[in-house]
Amino acid sequence: MKIAIIGTGYVGLVSGTCFSEFGHNVVCVDKDEKKIEALKNGQIPIYEPGLDELVKSNVEANRLIFTLDTAFAIKDADAVFIAVGTPTSRRGDGYADLSYVYAAAKELAGHLNGYTVIVDKSTVPVGTARQVKRIIKGTNPKADFDMASNPEFLREGAAISDFMKPDRVVVGVESKKAEEVLRNIYKPLYLIETPMVVTNLETAELIKYASNAFLAVKISYINDMANLCEKVGADIVALAKGMGLDNRIGSKFLHAGPGYGGSCFPKDTLALSKTAQEHGAGLRLVESAIEINSAQKARMVKKIREALGGSEAGKTIACLGLTFKPETDDMRQAQSVAILPALVDKGARVRAHDPHGMAEAKKMMPEVEYADDAYGACKDADAVILMTEWNEYRALDLDRLAETMKGKIFIDLRNVYEPEVLREKGFQYFGVGRN
Ligand code: UDX
Repeated sequence: MKIAIIGTGYVGLVSGTCFSEFGHNVVCVDKDEKKIEALKNGQIPIYEPGLDELVKSNVEANRLIFTLDTAFAIKDADAVFIAVGTPTSRRGDGYADLSYVYAAAKELAGHLNGYTVIVDKSTVPVGTARQVKRIIKGTNPKADFDMASNPEFLREGAAISDFMKPDRVVVGVESKKAEEVLRNIYKPLYLIETPMVVTNLETAELIKYASNAFLAVKISYINDMANLCEKVGADIVALAKGMGLDNRIGSKFLHAGPGYGGSCFPKDTLALSKTAQEHGAGLRLVESAIEINSAQKARMVKKIREALGGSEAGKTIACLGLTFKPETDDMRQAQSVAILPALVDKGARVRAHDPHGMAEAKKMMPEVEYADDAYGACKDADAVILMTEWNEYRALDLDRLAETMKGKIFIDLRNVYEPEVLREKGFQYFGVGRN
């Protein structure tokens, strides 16, 4: 099959590459000349494990092409996936900005030839696919096309395996013909018996938001519970284990921490709650999850201050990890960005390290100093914060750390270490939801 992907951001690039790995002929188009030039030269603009090899092998096999030319990408395509960004609107009202989606729809409409399925891949509020359909019809009344919605459920850092071995594929369609095209595109997944959920356009759009919001609620629930654990002397890690072994609850997304970040949960929970309010069906649980998540970041600042004896002024604080989670270089809505500048504001000196996030972090937080490795960040520090649970911070040489640091305060915002192990090494240990 011939597939066009509009937008080579995270979702477009991963989806296009994986479709080509399935054996389809994929053309990815973007407006960003530098990005397309880099991709043509095998340079991947994001850090995603395994993606560079996959791009390289499919480009070499002539199944994956990058271009600036929309007409060329769309010509003869069986399906066109719209995978452009849907950031939070600049108006600051929490709504998703759909201008890129609508502009893509308008542009592609004129180039359609023969029957084509237009697929919304970007995370878009319910009703967007119908609006895209209206735009295409209005721009090119003769176009022979069907509209579809096919949300992605990729996690950064695990995107390739999430795409190749998904729990499910969700497809919103209005015709059997469009369903058939999408079934053919995802055929390789039948071999591993991936369920395909076929719905109408609105349901597919909402499944994505409802799933992300549910996971966000789960995280905020455990973070709220962590706060209670600290007050009553319970241990959140054991509590989450005790809860998670109940199959009805499940152990995933029950890790207490500094709150969720990233390009999806903060944006999608906000957009969903706005849509719900607009329809007079406010989602109070989702609204609470948003509130708890922002309070959690403030709680972390307070925790750090208290660990330092009530004031961070004049203290040197090391921070290990800056990205919103490990295995990505993505700093969007990273917890560190909410926490570290607040410490510097109160007179702390912060020195940080991250395996892949420092280039971006330097632009976002020039007030922070940066070190080449974990021990460099910890040199003569009064305290260390474990912000992001990169593997390389999971087995630190604690004797070396103790020698390197001036103070012996370990603030473990991801509950990676056992409190007793740190205490045996002479550290004061502060976790989230455990003492
Ligand atoms: C998420 C969804 O998982 C994915 O299906 C969707 O397509 C995009 O949004 P992603 O943002 O890449 O993926 O990361 P995810 O692994 O879900 O983590 C999101 C945030 O929640 C991170 O900041 C992570 O640190 C935090 N988190 C996650 C917790 O604090 N506790 C947990 O138990 C799980």
